[in-house]
Amino acid sequence: MHVGIIMDGNGRWATERGLPRLMGHKRGANRVKNIVKASSELGVDTLTLYAFSTENWKRAAHEVEGIMKLFRGYLQNNFAALNANNVRVCFIGDPTPLAADLREQMDALTNLTKNNTLLTLNVAINYGGQDELVRAMRKIALKAVSGSLLVDDIDADTISAHLDTAGQPNPDLIIRTAGEMRLSNFMTWQGAYSELAFVEESWPEFTVEVYTEVLADYRSRTRQFGAVILKPAKVSNKA
Ligand code: FPP
Repeated sequence: MHVGIIMDGNGRWATERGLPRLMGHKRGANRVKNIVKASSELGVDTLTLYAFSTENWKRAAHEVEGIMKLFRGYLQNNFAALNANNVRVCFIGDPTPLAADLREQMDALTNLTKNNTLLTLNVAINYGGQDELVRAMRKIALKAVSGSLLVDDIDADTISAHLDTAGQPNPDLIIRTAGEMRLSNFMTWQGAYSELAFVEESWPEFTVEVYTEVLADYRSRTRQFGAVILKPAKVSNKA
C-alpha cells in the first residue's frame, strides 16, 4: 500500500502557541521519524512525504533556510538508521536549486539504500506535480525528436515511466493534515484515483494513533477505479 502525506499546519501549530513558525517545523521534523517507523508495521510499503513544494521558496528567506537546515539535520541524524531499518529512500522533485552539500547527501542516501526492501520512503523536496509533468514531457519530447520513441506509442504508461516515481505504484491514499481540503500540486498524475483523507490535526499533532485511525477508515472503503463493482452472483449449493 502506498500512502502520500501532505504535512501541513506546522506554522499554524506554532503561531497558535505563541511560538516562532520554525518551532512548528522542528516539531514536524520530529514527527517524521515516528511515522516512518510505524508505516511498515501498519502495512504501508511506500510512503511519500511532501516536505517542500516548488511554491515554498516564496516564504521568508529565514523560514526557507530553517526548513533546509531541519532537512539537512534529518538526513544526517537518520542516515545510518534508515539503512539499518531496510528503508529505501528516494527523493522526488527537482534537486537543481538545492544546496550542493544537501544534494550530495541525498545522492549518497539514495545509493546506500537502493536495494532495501521493507519500505520505500519518497521525500518530495522542491516537488510540484505540474513541474514533474513538465520535466517528464521534456524527456518524452527529446526521445520523440531523436526518433527513439514514436509519437503514436506515447500512452499513460509512457508518462508514468518518465515521472520521478517511475516504477513505483500510485498512491492508494493521500492524507492531508491541518484541515485544508486541496492537493496543492501533490502527485497530480499519480493521484488520479487515490482515496483522500483530510484530518483536522496539524502535522506536529499527527501521532501514530491518528495515522492508525486514518488507515483503518481507508480500509473500510471500497475502491472502484471508475468501474461498477457488481455483487457476485449467488452460487447455488444445488447442482
Ligand atoms: C507545512 O506547514 C510544512 C512545510 C512546508 C515544511 C515541512 C517540513 C518539515 C516537516 C521538516 C523537514 C522534512 C523532513 C522530511 C525531515 P506550513 O508551514 O505550511 O503550515 P501552515 O499552513 O500552518 O503555515
